[in-house]
Amino acid sequence: MAEGEWEILETRIAGSEPILRIPAAPNLKPMPGQYFQVYAPGFDETFAVSLFLIDNHHTYWDLTGEIPVYWTPGIRLRWRGPLGRGFDLSPNIRKTAFVPWLDHGLCLLPLVQQALSVQAAVVWYSHLVPDWLPPTVEVLPIELLPDVLNWAEYLAATCELNHLPELVAALGLKLPFSLNFSLEVLVQTPLVCGGIGECGVCSVKTRGGWKQACKDGPVFDLDQLELAA
Ligand code: FES
Repeated sequence: MAEGEWEILETRIAGSEPILRIPAAPNLKPMPGQYFQVYAPGFDETFAVSLFLIDNHHTYWDLTGEIPVYWTPGIRLRWRGPLGRGFDLSPNIRKTAFVPWLDHGLCLLPLVQQALSVQAAVVWYSHLVPDWLPPTVEVLPIELLPDVLNWAEYLAATCELNHLPELVAALGLKLPFSLNFSLEVLVQTPLVCGGIGECGVCSVKTRGGWKQACKDGPVFDLDQLELAA
């Protein structure tokens, strides 16, 4: 974990997702799904903002998250990271699926690119087809999601904590379930203190007891989460 300062180069909206551009930080190697805790000194901010890297161009980085509207070019930001557990996609996997549950899934983009870089097949299950999705990605409607259990070797999803039961139902799974392939989900929940304050806001119930999404996640194995029947 490192810390430092970035200057905002640009902010923009892609679809409905806010994007922040900063100078590239090539010495940092965040895994897809890991995050940075970021704040702007001098502003009356209650909490740091959790930002996910979506594009690591060699001269700039693009990040997404709940970016305050008053963060504008030239403002200097303090950051620490990368934090938490990211996605773990083996380079041997050849059949991948992605499910941005009820959102655009922009923070899945680096993982999509990682899968494509090793010539894995990539299927995107959503009614939302963002314009930043690489053209080699196959897009299927969410109603076909149960089929994924028959062919995928790996599935990555994003989902708010309180919507996880809906994701499980959409997959056609019944509680309790076990899976014969890796299904990882980035659990979207406030990462208020990023583990520094032990605030517990990010608590997630798992088969191994309560975990903290800020440190033990935000990426979890779906079959390790304790979900209400
Ligand atoms: S966000 Fe405070 S303990 Fe996780």
